[in-house]
Amino acid sequence: MKKKTIFQSLILSCLLSFSCHTLLAQNHVNGQLWPDTDGNHINAHGGNIIQYQNLYYWYGENRPNRGGSTETGIAVYSSPDLKNWSNHGIALATSMEEGHDIEKGCIMERPKVVYNEKTKKFVMLFHLELKGRGYEAARVAFAESDTPKGPFRFIRSLRIHAGKWPFNMKKKEIEAAQETDASLWKDWWTPEWRKEVEKGMYLWRDMEGGQMSRDMTVYIDSDGKAYHITSSQENLTLLISELTDDYLDYTGKYTTALPGGQNEAPCIFKNGDTYWLICSGCTGWAPNEARMFSAKSIWGPWTQHPSPFVGNASNNQPANKTFGAQGTYIYHMNSTPVMMLDIWNPQHLSKSMHLWLPIQFDAQGIPVIKWQDEIPVK
Ligand code: GAL
Repeated sequence: MKKKTIFQSLILSCLLSFSCHTLLAQNHVNGQLWPDTDGNHINAHGGNIIQYQNLYYWYGENRPNRGGSTETGIAVYSSPDLKNWSNHGIALATSMEEGHDIEKGCIMERPKVVYNEKTKKFVMLFHLELKGRGYEAARVAFAESDTPKGPFRFIRSLRIHAGKWPFNMKKKEIEAAQETDASLWKDWWTPEWRKEVEKGMYLWRDMEGGQMSRDMTVYIDSDGKAYHITSSQENLTLLISELTDDYLDYTGKYTTALPGGQNEAPCIFKNGDTYWLICSGCTGWAPNEARMFSAKSIWGPWTQHPSPFVGNASNNQPANKTFGAQGTYIYHMNSTPVMMLDIWNPQHLSKSMHLWLPIQFDAQGIPVIKWQDEIPVK
């Protein structure tokens, strides 16, 4: 009798916990805690989603409850339907080796994983800051894995394009950049300083040691070519760089975009033959107004449009503060582009909220993003 009661209560609690998890997992509301299938808030921030075989994989910064440095590494979750997410732990772990580029206590941000059809490998690029050096290292890092869940092998981290000029900079423009001197400009934001930035003052300053790379994304174009888009030059100017066929290096072809524009958190997608780039401004964890640009070529020129965020949000954050969020990636659900954003909680980064909003188009074909409580899932 007693045996039966224990057995029955075991079954009951299993059923209860299963239905609780399912219920919790299905009840994701934008801007609120999003439980995984174990009931824990999904701790994957600044990341991206890919689809591989029958599953979606979500990679992101696994943040500690307190502090801004990386203790564990990059998290990976999987889901059959974009709403029930199972935690697979850490896809790329920090190293315990002293002095290692990704030593525990470094800062790993904005990981983007892409699948390489040719090599059949999963490639991860992310923003890396070396332990104990704040945000001054400004490097990009590469890692690779045979399977979507990892473990990813760390390959290397670097500053980019040392000794190389953008492919489309003319001789005269290079000469003008070589005449600038960043050490002379203590006061930023004057019209004269801006002119020097536009000439390529920071590009020239970092020519020998390589260009800075902080907030970043990776974009795979319809022809399979991959591009790394990153905030460089003290976060003032974006660099757009072509990656090699294995996605593990640069071909050397790169350009600068929107010099002096202070664009961070780059997110990109293509609609027809138009590339749309949606960025944030540069105010740390605090939200700011998104910026949107379009171009007919990945190399630009980019034309600015008003922010696509419009209307009211349930969290009472205005559209001109991107509903309190900052973009991280644009994935496609069927054919709808969906923007993934983070509502950062700098006191408890692990509790930062997720916000996924579909991108709609107005009558002129310009992207529009409105708040909705429900997350766009299949
Ligand atoms: C933001 C950036 C984040 C993180 C943060 C640190 O501007 O988008 O990824 O680096 O600054 O303050």
